[in-house]
Amino acid sequence: MGRLIAISNRTAVDPKARAGGLAVAVWESLKATGGVWFGWSGEIAESEHRVLHAHHDEGVEFLLTDLTREEHDGYYLNYANRVIWPVFHYRIDLASFDRDAFTIYAAVNQRIARQIAPRLHPDDVVWVHDYHFMLMADALRHTGWEGPTGFFLHIPFPAPEVFRALPEHHWIARALCAYDVIGFQAERDRYNFVQYLIDDCGGEDLGEGRVKAFDQTITVKAYPIGIDAEGFREASRSAKADEAAERIGRFLGGERELVIGVDRMDYSKGLPERFEAVGRLFDNFPDMRGRVSVTQITPPSRSKVEEYQELRVELDGLAGRINGDYGDLDWIPLRYLARSYSREELAGLFRIARVGLVTPLRDGMNLVCKEFVMAQDEDDPGVLILSEFAGAAEQLQSALIVNPHDTDNVAEAIHTALTMPLEERKSRWRRLRDTTVEQDIGWWREKFLSDLSPGGLN
Ligand code: G6P
Repeated sequence: MGRLIAISNRTAVDPKARAGGLAVAVWESLKATGGVWFGWSGEIAESEHRVLHAHHDEGVEFLLTDLTREEHDGYYLNYANRVIWPVFHYRIDLASFDRDAFTIYAAVNQRIARQIAPRLHPDDVVWVHDYHFMLMADALRHTGWEGPTGFFLHIPFPAPEVFRALPEHHWIARALCAYDVIGFQAERDRYNFVQYLIDDCGGEDLGEGRVKAFDQTITVKAYPIGIDAEGFREASRSAKADEAAERIGRFLGGERELVIGVDRMDYSKGLPERFEAVGRLFDNFPDMRGRVSVTQITPPSRSKVEEYQELRVELDGLAGRINGDYGDLDWIPLRYLARSYSREELAGLFRIARVGLVTPLRDGMNLVCKEFVMAQDEDDPGVLILSEFAGAAEQLQSALIVNPHDTDNVAEAIHTALTMPLEERKSRWRRLRDTTVEQDIGWWREKFLSDLSPGGLN
């Protein structure tokens, strides 16, 4: 009987971590199929001897490794977060290219592959997640592993011109072709990867999602990730959700509309541009002053990385400036909360918001927009404003689609959303809801796994 084996840097061993996109998706998949989840324990090893720590929860076995300080800094902090992340989000200017970091990145992929290989059964199916482990299939193949091995990239794949900026681009592409199935969030990511293989590696698009490169024929497709749509809807009706909605309702005082944004503190999310757009809203539409409260919830992230520290300083300054410029004795235009809230609390806030503001400069998918949709009341739904550069824009065309760089465009969309007649809000929302429910997390999992393991698991 085959098992599903998931490999990702972060796991959801801590129930509190079962909130982010990747963690929720993999957790739901493993619970549904039973299986094993390999990943980083989150700890720095005291010694060079890195054993796998085992935990069991709801039928899922976690096998976690510590990282040495050198591995953590080279593989995670530097190569994953300061090279791949910025380049794949089109921010070559923020990348700190570093050959030694790549060497450590490759060594961590190989070391973990060697620890996993002896634990695999011949009929297991291996599913690797995200940019930390792009070399994993290649490393597993070197141990003699021949079983089905798939990769899903949760972040964007950049245009070939941008990917080429990565000094190791050819190496990475070759290693990726050791997978049987490569999944991307959006068609444009798939297009970018295939185009790169054709232009730089003599690859050939065979049609119907099949690509030939480096003497391998592999499946390369877009599998847009979804959410547990019904589960999120229920969360938005929970007691905790009601409590959060009531708390913010007291602040709004019954006469102000809530515009909400929820994003990890990351430069890919377009937060400075969003704050500027809020300023433009009050400049261009002075009648909106005093009538809306924009609430931005932004849990700090990767705070050991310099670029993230700088972003924090920038946002703190911008929020202060906007409130200083536009606020009044009885009104705070922009509430910026640099902390995290539970899934239920967020669901409650989404539910009472009139506008969901999701304006990343680049985003693999973005699941906040799908959660916002599922939390809305069908009789009086809010309006989603969505960046054309989020993967979700390919699916959620009934949102108000904006260019996040164009702050006047975003300000105008907020105004349109706040003044949109009920009938239009309802018809847009119904289409968004139908797609989110239909293409949910189960749909995504089955679509990917049926390509990776056509006979099915178990
Ligand atoms: C994104 C990535 C995930 C990552 C998460 C949090 O969603 O796709 O792979 O786990 O950010 O980032 P962190 O560096 O804290 O794991």
